[in-house]
Formats: sequence, C-alpha cells, structure tokens
Amino acid sequence: MDHDLIYSIRMRASAGNRHISGAERIISSNKLEATVQTLVTRARSRKTAPEQVVITIERLGNLPISRLTALDVVTVNAPDMAAGRSAASRILQSLGISEKSIMGTLNLLSNGAAPFGLNMRGAMIIDAVSGERLEPDPERGIRASRFDWTDEALDTMTKKLAAIGLTHFRTHEALALATKVAHAPGIIAELCWSDDPDYTAGYVASPRIGYIRFPILKLQDDPRGGRVFFVDRNTLNIEVFIHYLQFEPVLIVDGGTCRNPVDPEQYFTV
Ligand code: COA
Ligand code: AMP
Repeated sequence: MDHDLIYSIRMRASAGNRHISGAERIISSNKLEATVQTLVTRARSRKTAPEQVVITIERLGNLPISRLTALDVVTVNAPDMAAGRSAASRILQSLGISEKSIMGTLNLLSNGAAPFGLNMRGAMIIDAVSGERLEPDPERGIRASRFDWTDEALDTMTKKLAAIGLTHFRTHEALALATKVAHAPGIIAELCWSDDPDYTAGYVASPRIGYIRFPILKLQDDPRGGRVFFVDRNTLNIEVFIHYLQFEPVLIVDGGTCRNPVDPEQYFTV
C-alpha cells in the first residue's frame, strides 16, 4: 500500500443515545467506496435499526503504522460461568495480577463499571497490584482504535480460526483489538466479556500467553459487559499508553497459532 493513500475508516451506529454497533478498517484509497458499503450493511445488521450511522474517513498520511503478528489463540472449554471466571482469574494471577485487583474487577464488570451500574463506553485501566482504577473518565473509559488486518492476514487467520471451530466475526475483531492492546507500552493483560446479551464468550489476553478464549464468562441475556486493561502503575506512562491505544495505527500482517480447545485442567497442566 502507498503510505500516503492509506485511510482509517470507522463506523458507529446508534439509536437515541444508545450505541448499537461499531467497526473499523485501515485500507487503501481504492477500497473506500466498497468499505463504506460494507460498514453501512454492518450497521444495519443488528436487531435494533440504527437512527444514526456515522462514518469517519481519515487519511493516515505520514503516521507510522506498526505491523504486528496476531496473538496465539486457544479456547479453554470451561463449562459454565463460574468455571470460566475461575480459570480466567487463575491465568491473570499467573501473570502477576493480585487477587484483590482481579476480584474487584470481576465485581465491577458484573455490576456495570460505569456510574449507576451502566456499561462503560470503553475499557477500565486497572493497577495490577492495588486494583485502583486509573482511566481518566470512569463513564467513558479508553477505546482502542485504528487497527485492522491486512487482507492476506485476515484470510489466513479466518481459516485457522475456523479450523478450531471459531467462525463468528466477533472473534477476529476481538483478536485484532487484543493484539493491538497486548503491544501497548505497559500492558500486563486484558480481560473482556461482551455487553451483547446473546454473546457469553470472553477472553484474557496478554503478550506473554496470547489470547485465551472462554465460551462462557457471563450468563445468557445479561446485558452487562466490559473490558479491563491491567497495568503496572509504577512503570506506566499513562499518556503514552492512552495515545498508543487510541491513535497509533496498527496493521496485523500475520496470524499466530491456533490450538485445539482444551479443558481447564489440561490448560494448567501443559
Ligand atoms: N460504546 C458506547 N458509545 C460509543 C462506543 C461504544 N463502544 N463507541 C463510540 N461511541 C460513541 C460515544 O458517544 C463516543 O463519544 P466518547 O468518545 O465521549 O465516548 C462517540 O461515539 C465517538 O466515538 P469515537 O471513538 O470518537 O468514534 P469513531 O467513529 O472514531 O470510532 C468506533 C468508533 C466504534 C469504530 C471505535 O471507537 C472502536 O471501538 N473501534 C474498535 C471496533 C472494534 O473492532 N471492536 C471489536 C469489538 S469485539
Ligand atoms: P463488545 O466486545 O463490543 O461487546 O464490547 C464490550 C465492552 O468493551 C463494551 O461494553 C465497552 O465497555 C468496551 N469497549 C467497546 N469498544 C471498545 C474499544 N474499542 N476499546 C476498548 N474497550 C471497548
């Protein structure tokens, strides 16, 4: 791609003041029209019809683009929410995150981490030791943005994910987001489960152990969800961290490995 002709294109759809869906790509200028069409179709594909769809097209110009390899993926087949959260907590602890920080976070995500028990519009930033929240605005949080797969990497990864039974578009989108986040300066790990009442899966991701997916991290029909970025506040430069996540473009140019699903005990004994 000619660097001068690369664009970030982002879509957000809402009804009233409720966000319905969002998606983004990084593409060359010859794909702009087709991508707008795909994103509008995507905006209209949810159960709730959007009242407003905003498409933003921004030339990246001379901004350097980081080229990354996707995190390795494995599903830990914990059979229910309690087993999923317990395995996720054990993995987070193995990465050096304190029990206090993990328990506090699970509590926040379960009850709605924004004021009045609502979902946040982005992720919490949490100190891995004390559990203290560091994001400047606890209603908004921080959103990772300006990331995408190259067509070739997406094609390769879609096939690899399908081979281990993962065909939902959310998986490759979440994997792209988690790959960008895992390369943030100062990140230790990310924990996520969706706010979509019909989507119970979630993940723990980290630069050290990759992307660990759990089919059930919340109950069916629960509209609460969120994301957490665990950091070490003693070494973190929070401005640099937030700037990277929001604004620095990332293209994923290669797929990682995809392991067959394992049960929790297998995961911890390998
Ligand atoms: N939840 C609630 N509101 C949201 C939102 C979300 N997830 N994303 C955007 N909005 C609304 C907010 O009101 C926001 O204002 P704020 O910054 O005060 O919160 C406003 O839209 C503008 O958001 P902004 O991020 O500046 O818009 P954008 O058009 O540049 O990008 C997205 C929108 C949704 C594409 C981008 O924020 C994003 O999340 N990209 C990643 C998408 C993705 O692949 N997700 C993977 C999920 S598995
Ligand atoms: P989703 O995976 O889209 O269901 O989002 C789950 C939760 O993650 C949302 O409720 C937000 O709190 C948060 N979130 C949404 N988009 C982003 C983003 N781009 N970066 C970080 N957190 C996000």
